Amino acid sequence: MGGQSRFSKNIICIGAGYVGGPTMAMIAAKCPQYKVTVVDINAERIDAWNSENLPIFEPGLYEVVKQARGRNLFFSTEIEKAIKEAQIVFVSVNTPTKTFGEGAGKAADLQYWEKTARDIIRASDTDKIIVEKSTLPVRTASAMERILNANDKGIHFEVVSNPEFLAEGTAVADLENPDRVLIGSQMTETGLKACKEIVEIYANWVPAQKILTSNVWSSELSKLVANAFLAQRISSINSISALCEYTEANVSEVAGAIAMDSRIGPKFLNASIGFGGSCFKKDILNLVYICESYGLHEVARYWENVVLMNDYQKRRFVKTMIRTMFNTVAGKRIALFGFAFKANTGDTRESPAIDVTRQLAEERAKVVITDPKALDNAKMDLQSCLEFVEFCEDPYEAAKGAHAIALMTEWNEYKKLDYQKIYSQMEKPAFVFDGRNILDHKLLFEIGFNVFPLGRVPLTHL
Ligand code: NAD
Ligand code: UGA
Repeated sequence: MGGQSRFSKNIICIGAGYVGGPTMAMIAAKCPQYKVTVVDINAERIDAWNSENLPIFEPGLYEVVKQARGRNLFFSTEIEKAIKEAQIVFVSVNTPTKTFGEGAGKAADLQYWEKTARDIIRASDTDKIIVEKSTLPVRTASAMERILNANDKGIHFEVVSNPEFLAEGTAVADLENPDRVLIGSQMTETGLKACKEIVEIYANWVPAQKILTSNVWSSELSKLVANAFLAQRISSINSISALCEYTEANVSEVAGAIAMDSRIGPKFLNASIGFGGSCFKKDILNLVYICESYGLHEVARYWENVVLMNDYQKRRFVKTMIRTMFNTVAGKRIALFGFAFKANTGDTRESPAIDVTRQLAEERAKVVITDPKALDNAKMDLQSCLEFVEFCEDPYEAAKGAHAIALMTEWNEYKKLDYQKIYSQMEKPAFVFDGRNILDHKLLFEIGFNVFPLGRVPLTHL
């Protein structure tokens, strides 16, 4: 097609997932002067990116994709061809927790990442900038440069770190108006030149003061630390929710009071059944593993406790349910309202609802799951305990004949249900366990429910 000459930069991204797809779509939409190609080994995913049914659900994403697709945004499985033509290669492949061998359960599994390095060497015949978009252990760029620059073609690869901070459900808004863009490079002449090239891309729409540059190790580490700090806030408020339940303090009032201290601030202080999502746990465990590998055992334990507190919160929630329901839930129908790891997504990766369901299934409860977007994923997640689980699209049906409702995900629609109607169709005494503190507890109590919020005094008729 000879399209290359029409564009001032030829950018590609290897990995068309939650990060690669939206990030590149935004770059293409904001920079019509660049050619942006997203490649993946997964042909089905690429077909979906080229269709009306994008492979991920994000508000506003389709509009951004539609604006640039076919103009300067392309999705393809022709990885080799794309690499050959590119000057800048973003790599956004998955970096899950290792499940085997040394570091299993904690370290990052870098096999997909390393494979792309080898693909890049094989396909390249000109110098390129390689951009780490995936979340990676600190010092990965060093290993990458050693692998890439061991090529015998005389090609120079400059590795730059540009971690992604978008959250699912708000990806488009986060990309359009990021708190910051971070670009880390080596402090050499070629490193700084590469850094400038990446800054230039974002400068098309991100204000200069929000584009931070740093050394490459600070950039890699900052991504892990950002996720660790965010998760730590949730574990902190969740730990306090346990104390509130013994002291008649109200966790929302406590959160509100500390939030007004401008040094603490109001965000990420909602007590919950625990954080989920594909990255918090994985990235903290990766941080723990890195600390251990440098012999920093106290630092490792400190951060590991953020994950242990999260596990504790999920167990504590189920224990409260069992204790409250007369020490047995065997044979009792329990409706779980929500299964996604947070509202406005169908993603269930590391959703606390998975653990809660498994624990209830171990207790031989009959768990009925309802969720507006996540039922297909829920079915896949719960293969090991299907005999104790039912799935139901309609929350009213899910609650029919149930002894209890446990609210898992803060979907707005659950606030608006007719709880009088739901109550009338449930077994008595009827319980509500609000794992997100979003329901009107007083109203539910007046209807007749026994209400167990998180970190607040229960409202009970018993
Ligand atoms: P994902 O699993 O949705 O997508 C990764 C894609 O890479 C898949 O489509 C896979 O087929 C493809 N892939 C794997 N190996 C490949 C190869 N050799 N060649 C071509 N394609 C290949 O993952 P994701 O959620 O987009 O995450 C990617 C990275 O970004 C991870 O490191 C993650 O920690 C990080 N991150 C994710 C989020 C998020 O919200 N999901 C946010 C910030 C950062
Ligand atoms: C998170 C970070 O917010 C992003 O900045 C980061 O880029 C991303 O991880 C990543 O690296 O993958 P995400 O997992 O999509 O984004 O969602 P969050 O909004 O951070 O929520 C994570 C979990 O914490 C959810 O289960 C949510 O319900 C829970 N949460 C959040 C609480 O329990 N309480 C809160 O106050 C906030």
